[in-house]
Formats: sequence, C-alpha cells, structure tokens
Amino acid sequence: MWESFFRKKSIDKILSDQLEMENLAGDHLVRNLGVRDLTFMGVAAIIGASIFSAIGQASANGGPAVSMLFVFTALACMFTAFCYARFAATVPISGSAYTYAYTSLGEIVAWILGWNLLLEYAISNVAVAISWSKYFVDLVEGLGFHVPEYLTMDYLSAKRAFSAAEVGMQSGQSIESMSVNIREGYAAFASAPTIFGWHFVANIPALVITVAITYLVYIGIKESKNTNNVLVVLKLAVIAIVVGVGAFYVQVENWTPFAPNGISGVLKSVAAVCFAYIGFDSISTTAEECKNPQRDIPKAMMWALLICTVLYVMVTLVLTGIVPSHLLAGIEDPLAFMFMKVNLPGVAGVVAASAVIALTSALLVYQLGQPRIWMTMSRDGLLPKAFSRIHPKYHTPSFSTIMTGVLVGVPALFANLEEVINLSSIGTLFAFVLVCGGVLVLDLDPENQKKSKFKIPYVNAGIWIGAAWLIALYLSLPDAASWSTWIQGYFEGDAKADHAIMTGFFIIWLVLSVFSISHKLSLIPVLGLLVNLYLMTQMGATNWERFFYWCLAGVIIYFGYSYRKSKLN
Ligand code: ALA
Repeated sequence: MWESFFRKKSIDKILSDQLEMENLAGDHLVRNLGVRDLTFMGVAAIIGASIFSAIGQASANGGPAVSMLFVFTALACMFTAFCYARFAATVPISGSAYTYAYTSLGEIVAWILGWNLLLEYAISNVAVAISWSKYFVDLVEGLGFHVPEYLTMDYLSAKRAFSAAEVGMQSGQSIESMSVNIREGYAAFASAPTIFGWHFVANIPALVITVAITYLVYIGIKESKNTNNVLVVLKLAVIAIVVGVGAFYVQVENWTPFAPNGISGVLKSVAAVCFAYIGFDSISTTAEECKNPQRDIPKAMMWALLICTVLYVMVTLVLTGIVPSHLLAGIEDPLAFMFMKVNLPGVAGVVAASAVIALTSALLVYQLGQPRIWMTMSRDGLLPKAFSRIHPKYHTPSFSTIMTGVLVGVPALFANLEEVINLSSIGTLFAFVLVCGGVLVLDLDPENQKKSKFKIPYVNAGIWIGAAWLIALYLSLPDAASWSTWIQGYFEGDAKADHAIMTGFFIIWLVLSVFSISHKLSLIPVLGLLVNLYLMTQMGATNWERFFYWCLAGVIIYFGYSYRKSKLN
C-alpha cells in the first residue's frame, strides 16, 4: 500500500508514449517554439506585477538592499533552473515539475507538486490580473473617464478601508487627509449597490482581461507566441527607459543607509521578491511545442533569468536612488511615482501605460502554462479525461484552458492582492524545493544521468554543506545567558511558530549534510534545495498555516479521486 503512493513513471515509458502520441493521426500540440520565443516567454512571465507594483512596498521595507535580495533570490532560481533544465532535457513533456516529480519522487509527491503549481500559475495570475486592473483603471482615469470604485477592487480591501476610514473619522481626521488606498476603498464600499445588505464590490477589469487572454490562448499557440513576442519587446523597451532616464536623477546619498531597517527589513520583502521570479520555469510547460526542447529550454531559462535579474537590480537601485525608500510605503505604482517625483509626468504616463502591456504578457504566459500541466495530469489519470482534450482545430488543450480562465477570472473579482502573492510565493518555492530534491533522487541511479542531454556541472557537495551548517548554527545560536529565553520561545510569544519552522530547516540541512557526504551529492541541486527552503522559512507563520491547509486539501483530493483513477493503479 505505502509503496503504491510512491509509484513512479519510468522515463522510457513517458518518452515512448509521447512518441506514439505524436505519430498518431489524432489531435496533438504543434512544435513551433525556438530559443528566442522561449526566452521571451520567460521574460514575459517573470517581469510582471512585482516590478510595477510590489517593488514599492518591498523597497520601503528593505531599502536599496532589496537589490541584493534580488541577487540572492536569483541565485536560488539559477540553481533551480539547472534542475529544471536537467529534467526538461530528460523528459520534455508539458507537465513540467509535476512530470519531473512523477519520475523521481513518486505519484503522491507529483500530485502535491501539481497541486502547488496551481498556486504558481493560476493563483499567481489572479495577482497579475488584479495588478493589471489597477494600472488599467489608472490609465482610463488619466484619459479623463471615471470608473466607479466599486467595480475596480476586491470586497475585502474595500471593507477594510471603509472600517479604517470610519475609525479615522471618529477620531476627527478628514477623509481627504487619509491615504489614497483608504480613500478609494471607502468610496468603493460606500457607493456600492447593496444586495440583501451585502455591498457589491468586485474587480470587473480583472475578470474582463482574464476572459480576453483565455480566449487568445484557446485559439492557438502560434497566435499567443506572436502576441507575446511583441508585448515583451515593448516591455523591455519601457524598462530600459525607466533605467536609462531614471539613472540621470539618482542621488547616491539616498543609497545610504543601504539597509535602513536592517536584515529583518530586507527579509520582510522575501515574498515580493520571490514572486518577482515566478515564471522562469513556465517555459518548461511548452516542452511539447518546442522545436528542440532538450537544447532550447535550458538555454532560454538561463537567458530569461539573467536578463530579468539585471533589470530588477537596476530598477531597484534607480528607484531607491531617486526616492528615499521610506516614501515608497504603500505606493502601488512606484515607477510612475518616481518620475512624478522628479517632475517628469510624461515619462510617468508612459510607464503607467506600459505596465498594462507588461502585465498582459505575464497573464498570457501563465494562462498558457496551467492548462498544459493539467493536460499532463489528466493523461496520467490523476484528473478527469476532459482536462486532456485537445481542440481539433486550434490544437490547444481546450477544456483545461477554459477551466483556467474560470479559476483565475472568478477569484480575481474578489481576491486581495497581498494575500494572493504570499500564498503563490510559498507554493512556488515548495515546488522548487521538490524539483531540486527530485534531481538528487533521480541521480542516485547513474543510469538516469546517461539519459539526459543536459548535465548539471558536477561539484561534490561533500563536507561543504555540513561545514556551512556548523557555521550557520554557531552564528545563530544564542549566548549561554539567553538559552532559557530561546527555549521558551518554542512555547510562548508571537514567534513560536517561526522558531519551530527555523528548527525544522536546520534539521533538514543537517540530514542533507550527511547525505552529501555519504552519497557524494551534486552541489548545485543541494544548494537550490536549501536556498529555496530558507526563503520559505522567511514567509511567516500565517502563510505556512494557509499553505498547510492548501496541501491538506490536495491530499484529500488525491485519496478521494486521483489515487484510484491513476493509470499506474
Ligand atoms: N513574476 C511575476 C510577477 O512579478 C509573477 O508578476
């Protein structure tokens, strides 16, 4: 019984099934994508809501040092990208990380991973749709049209803002003196039509753009690819303007202090920064539509990561060099704000308009990735058959694409941006941890190494992981005087859950140190696993709790449906 949860799909079987399917006269996907298209898709997916909105609050938390967090996170992503590339070159199938886990870690882990990819693709796209809506409404208002506030935001934000405004007004504050978020939320809630006492507040533009993009993805990969390539060129051009023009207005004294709120301030931005990199792996979901997936996917991932890291670091430095970071708190359109600050409203307008374009291309890629993962899961029997149906004319996974549209569009009406970003980031990091772990398990069998056309440069992790563990432990242990306070921290105080999470991290690190020596593990996947796990530890107890319930729901569905229906059963 226990073993059946961990049954694996053999790589040879996956490849032979794939070949058979492509040779059949029936409906299948078409191979249309090369390195450039894939790199552009990566850039399209990576650069989105974070750089145009979340970077404001992230910089307010951490100051210019957030640029270093971008570099650190990029390292985690690069290590992970090596692992993705290794898998993508071995099993070039649309299921991405889900398929990789199926071949290396077993069915139940693959299912949980597939379940978490839902957070990475569909749920993160909810965030992108919400962000898109914000910029779109700004743009429309800038052109002189007014959109009623209650049609432009989620219920919860409006209700919270309304309550905050009421408290403020009771203590004598005027609504005009409150922040723009509170003013807008108050207006939305107060002016919303009520249905049985319930205020109708919903993000209509977010729904409309989701429907439009879903339609585009539905009618074909070629149409999606061409649209995407144009959007990405525009997006890169605008970021170049932000950096190029902004650089002339940087005042280097704004970079001191580099980390005004210390390391803890920088680490507060982990979710936003991780969210910024989500998407580099989405390229691998198009493996069945690539002309040469084994060669092109690894290359494209690295290019996309490199380009985006350079852009992120430059944008953060320019932003914090122009605007003192504490002024960025709560600013949702920081790049436009920065140009207003230096009296360049024209450039600010261009940036706002471009955000709409940038976010459209990010939406497109996720809307493209999610159905392809479901398609693969359905082929394996873990999801109903309809999910792998291919449209006879458009050659796209039709039912899955529509389902993705529903799953993104409906929550986008009501969801709150920050909460969506947090859940999406923790789920994605978890998927990355499993992919890195999967490579380690896969490579325990030397035969598997021979099957891949892409090799991760091998450095023996050996004693280094253990040595680093000892140093980290030495640096983080309290002095003798505060030992008892530290132990008490497990049982009382706000941080007791964080305490336990960190302890868990150190235990896993220790186990990996032992295995690194005993099995001569490869350094890059080990580092990928540890760095991603470390980033997860910084996400806070509330997010861990939500994530736990999310995984629990996944496990219940697995036992209720997928386990029995699995083709391997
Ligand atoms: N990386 C994507 C973004 O920043 C999800 O919006």
